[in-house]
Amino acid sequence: MFQENTIFQNETQPGSHQELQEWVNKIAKHCQADQIHWCDGSDEEYDRFTQMLVDKGTFIRLDEAKWPNSFACFSDPSDVARVEDRTYICSRRKDDAGPTNNWVEPKEMKNTLEGLLKGAMKGRTMYVIPYCMGPIGSPLSRLGVQLTDSEYVVVNMKIMTRMGKAALDMLGKSGEYVKCIHCLGAPLEPGQDDVSWPCNPTTKYIVHFPEDRYIVSYGSGYGGNALLGKKCFALRIASAMAKEEGWLAEHMLILGAESPEGEKTYVAAAFPSACGKTNFAMLIPPKEMDGWKITTVGDDIAWIEMGEDGRLYAINPEAGYFGVAPGTNTKTNPSAMETIHRNSIFTNVAVTPDGDIWWEGMTKTPPPNLIDWTGKPWDPNSGKPAAHPNARFTAPAHQNPVIDADYDNPKGVPISAFIFGGRRSTTVPLVYQSFNWNFGVYLAATMGSEMTAAAFGQIGKVRRDPFAMLPFTGYHMADYFNYWLQFGRKLPNAPRIFGVNWFRKDEDGNFLWPGFGQNMRVLKWIIQRVKGQTAAVESPIGWMPRYEDMDWTGLDFSREEFEKIMTIDSEAWKQEVSSHEELFAQLFDKLPKEFPYMRELMRSALWRAPKVWGQAAER
Ligand code: GTP
Ligand code: SPV
Ligand code: MN
Repeated sequence: MFQENTIFQNETQPGSHQELQEWVNKIAKHCQADQIHWCDGSDEEYDRFTQMLVDKGTFIRLDEAKWPNSFACFSDPSDVARVEDRTYICSRRKDDAGPTNNWVEPKEMKNTLEGLLKGAMKGRTMYVIPYCMGPIGSPLSRLGVQLTDSEYVVVNMKIMTRMGKAALDMLGKSGEYVKCIHCLGAPLEPGQDDVSWPCNPTTKYIVHFPEDRYIVSYGSGYGGNALLGKKCFALRIASAMAKEEGWLAEHMLILGAESPEGEKTYVAAAFPSACGKTNFAMLIPPKEMDGWKITTVGDDIAWIEMGEDGRLYAINPEAGYFGVAPGTNTKTNPSAMETIHRNSIFTNVAVTPDGDIWWEGMTKTPPPNLIDWTGKPWDPNSGKPAAHPNARFTAPAHQNPVIDADYDNPKGVPISAFIFGGRRSTTVPLVYQSFNWNFGVYLAATMGSEMTAAAFGQIGKVRRDPFAMLPFTGYHMADYFNYWLQFGRKLPNAPRIFGVNWFRKDEDGNFLWPGFGQNMRVLKWIIQRVKGQTAAVESPIGWMPRYEDMDWTGLDFSREEFEKIMTIDSEAWKQEVSSHEELFAQLFDKLPKEFPYMRELMRSALWRAPKVWGQAAER
């Protein structure tokens, strides 16, 4: 139990950052942690903690031959995804959080959290995780220190961030850092046995204080709720920092595309949660296009700044992938399968008694005798999935066979295009290019997506997810739109902006587009547009490729099929555009003045357009 003068400090405890030291001790005392452990981030430490998690029954060590140094675990059924309704942006003024974020007056929220945290780490060790988001030593990188009572979080943070000694050295005596407190909300009384997934099943709070650069997360041990470097810091707090300091923090993958001529182009793409960022970032071109090579810089988050040459440069602040497992297989994403093959953690997948794992879509036939993600024998006829739909892998980025050579470059990589795409079974075509930056901002701001298990809400329902940032913008969404418009004005040659939709379906519910590696064909058109190497025609919503503008080598995709997936149904689009008003109404007082005009321009173009705009309609 906690005793005031016996706070355990291991050999790595640094004495140099006085303020950090005092904060750590203060929180440990308030939470009544048994002891403090300063993480050094070494492999030895990682091995010690993974073994500790095995001994506790949290981790199952997987078969060493099949999945070397890898582990599976099952979360509490109440703790399987981010909790958007429990996520708060507690800026001083309510108006700075805006209508799309939950808000509570900061003092009041701090009181609530202080009450919850009091004694809440009893019987547990408090770990101190100094970490760096971004390459060590990069001017674009930022530091954080997360306090947590979860060993699961420590080992995940080791994979997802540059953590431990290197980050602490960067912090020095007085470096600035984002304060992150994470507490499972599951104190242990003396003699009380721990459970395999401690969390607080009833009370959860994920709270951000943007002006204080301060995060408190209580009650959840899962993913973005608990690995505070990711969504909490690198998106919510960072977006607020970025607006103040003149850069961008975005929910975007970053990839490099090398043409057969050896020319390299980088693009950044924002798709909502579980809508294909990891897959696109690791895309393997179809073999008929094997002159092209795609490399990964990042799969989830991009920090972007204007360089001295006026171009935008992006870094991936993360060091690992926390990716959706279901649907991942050697065909859809061979590079991900290779990446996760060792030194990885699998949360809420199904396991076999002999230390193998499985999820829906990994293979056609599931192996026999599966234990499902709830830890019970799985009945294939139950109609229930064996793996949770939001089951995830945590894997080190450097194991990715197609990692970009400049993944760790402190300067970042130059971005030539932004791509925005949601999951839309109707209405939205495969690809289109925005007329200009402002229309691109409008396109991104009004992006809709059908909800998935990774988000909160009714699965399948379309919700507006501006810039794929609805759950991740740390300030007023309309201020964010205005900031993007303003940001574009200072760029001498702004990246071109595109919309994509891999998810359009036919009347029978089948995907119209093969997706995955075949997305290379769309990417090729995008890159050629950026370079002025290919044609397009003007549609009511933007520039679009004709059938002959795309590379179809080796794919049996007819002109009719293409027209179907590129169709702009004027009636459906008039409705789509009308539905933007819902978002506009919500944000009315700060909405960019340009937006209603742009909407009206689109509307009148749609009135003039034929009922069904496709290649056939071209005059
Ligand atoms: P977060 O990590 O939640 O931000 O998600 P993400 O955008 O990285 O999602 P991810 O790449 O993991 O994709 C999630 C789901 O989308 C998986 O079930 C994939 O099978 C599916 N998916 C990805 N790309 C495609 C595609 O081109 N076509 C189709 N039909 N499905 C895809
Ligand atoms: C997402 O939901 O967009 C994720 C997963 O990337 S999590 O880190 O849990 O938020
Ligand atoms: Mn994400």
